[in-house]
Amino acid sequence: MTEAEWFDTNRRAWNARTPVHLGSKFYDLAAFRAGAGSLNPIELEQVGDVRGKTLLHLQCHFGQDTLSWARLGARVTGLDLSDEAIKAARALAAELSIDARFVEANTYDAPAALGGETFDVVFTSYGVLGWLPDMTRWARAAAACLKPGGVLHLVEFHPLVWAFDDAFEHIAYAYDGKGEPIITEQTGTYADRDASVKLREVGFNHGIGTVVTALLEAGLTLERLQELDWSPYDIFPDMEEGPPGHFRMKKFGRRLPLVFALAARRGR
Ligand SMILES: C[S@@+](CC[C@H](N)C(=O)[O-])C[C@H]1O[C@@H](n2cnc3c(N)ncnc32)[C@H](O)[C@@H]1O
Repeated sequence: MTEAEWFDTNRRAWNARTPVHLGSKFYDLAAFRAGAGSLNPIELEQVGDVRGKTLLHLQCHFGQDTLSWARLGARVTGLDLSDEAIKAARALAAELSIDARFVEANTYDAPAALGGETFDVVFTSYGVLGWLPDMTRWARAAAACLKPGGVLHLVEFHPLVWAFDDAFEHIAYAYDGKGEPIITEQTGTYADRDASVKLREVGFNHGIGTVVTALLEAGLTLERLQELDWSPYDIFPDMEEGPPGHFRMKKFGRRLPLVFALAARRGR
């Protein structure tokens, strides 16, 4: 498969997932429509006050988090590869009368797709890096979308998680695959395991060293990096909730990192 075919395969998978996600309990659009935000304390605390700031959300899916930042006062742009997700994001923004712009594009093409526009904040979270084969190109694209002094906020599942097989019984994949594609076929999606949707996907594993080095080489300054032994999402097998909103796998408890979060700033 060529790189273009990897991206096409993933676009089809995310197009198929989108209608399932829109109706899922996981994304709980009814609560969102009634005014609930979809952002978690990790990113809310890290990103801080966004009032009046311009914010680009890379890999925004159908825009729930993007629109949540808008409700908090940011001037938002969401970007995603999936045309179905972008269509749904635009419809949701219109329905809720939230001012937002949504752009259909590959993250790698973000600077060109946005006409070189730059932002105070670039935000991207939970399930984003694994669709991109090369962190150097990702970091360059994200950095190019930042204003001088602007900050990239990444909150992501910990790469160690993706080294495991689906049942978390053994290490099945490289912790850092160095661009090697992992092609999988599955039925159901993380937001609805029983959905009849069939997905073929192409993923990539990137270790934290690779992610951070790419950001430094793109000229950003790392201001913060934390690894968390819990996830705000109950998406891995057999999890239990400790404090509200803190999920851990029963078999690993606090011994396995599940999420990492970093902030990296473009110089002035
Ligand atoms: C797990 S979602 C992340 C979103 C967010 N955490 C959420 O749950 O709404 C991943 C998103 O990345 C998008 N995506 C995958 N590959 C992409 C690429 N190369 N460029 C832009 N978006 C991409 C998918 O279409 C999908 O909407």
